[in-house]
Amino acid sequence: MLAQVSPWYAHAAQRLATTPAQALTPPGRMEWSTHPGLGPDAEILGRALRGKRLLELGCGPGRNVAHLAQHRQARVIGVDLVGLQVRRARSHYGHIEGAAFAVGHVLHYLQATGQTFDAIYSVFGAVGLVAPELLLAAISRRLVPGGVLAFSVPHPARAGRHPSPDDRPREDFVTMPDHTRLPITRWEFDAHRWAAHIARTGLRITSAIELRHPRLDAWPTTLLITARKR
Ligand SMILES: C[S@@+](CC[C@H](N)C(=O)[O-])C[C@H]1O[C@@H](n2cnc3c(N)ncnc32)[C@H](O)[C@@H]1O
Repeated sequence: MLAQVSPWYAHAAQRLATTPAQALTPPGRMEWSTHPGLGPDAEILGRALRGKRLLELGCGPGRNVAHLAQHRQARVIGVDLVGLQVRRARSHYGHIEGAAFAVGHVLHYLQATGQTFDAIYSVFGAVGLVAPELLLAAISRRLVPGGVLAFSVPHPARAGRHPSPDDRPREDFVTMPDHTRLPITRWEFDAHRWAAHIARTGLRITSAIELRHPRLDAWPTTLLITARKR
């Protein structure tokens, strides 16, 4: 449950060293996996997103925040633990109306904000990296009734692994831009275990989608889950 600052800081610092801080055009679709174009787009957050309040947990460089603000006219806040990432996100997409970025641990942000959201989402972000019973409860408190939670995580059975047999986290790695790997702790649940945790917080799971690139992946690589507040 401790903030895993250093691998993410190291990741951001390496990336920043190679990417110029400049305004970028937002991508034309939302990505839930590491393969562009694979799986659903933003419609799983709600059909009409214009004017809706959205929150991304662990936004990194802010590509999905930028897409949702520019192409769906949503009002989106991206939160990330690492100040460098948020600086990078602002340099790329800070000019886009409706896109805003904040530095912080997602639990602290959710506990401190007075706002509620129509949808809260995470793309390989903080969901799975923070104790689920704490994070899901904090998310549920900040969703409006009928609000949507959607998150993608590395598939728990990727590359021959097996989902956790219990509720404990286990060791995983972040691959740095220079291909070195740094250890992190991750909760690696299958869809049933996520559904059970989600159900305890006043949300109800609505879909669990396994994403696998038909040519490039031997295994499902991404688990994408959606839920709705009762
Ligand atoms: C693999 S990156 C994904 C970034 C982004 N969602 C994307 O798709 O490009 C994970 C991000 O989550 C952030 N993160 C990890 N733990 C976090 C926490 N507890 N609170 C906020 N952000 C966190 C990291 O700093 C990192 O930028």
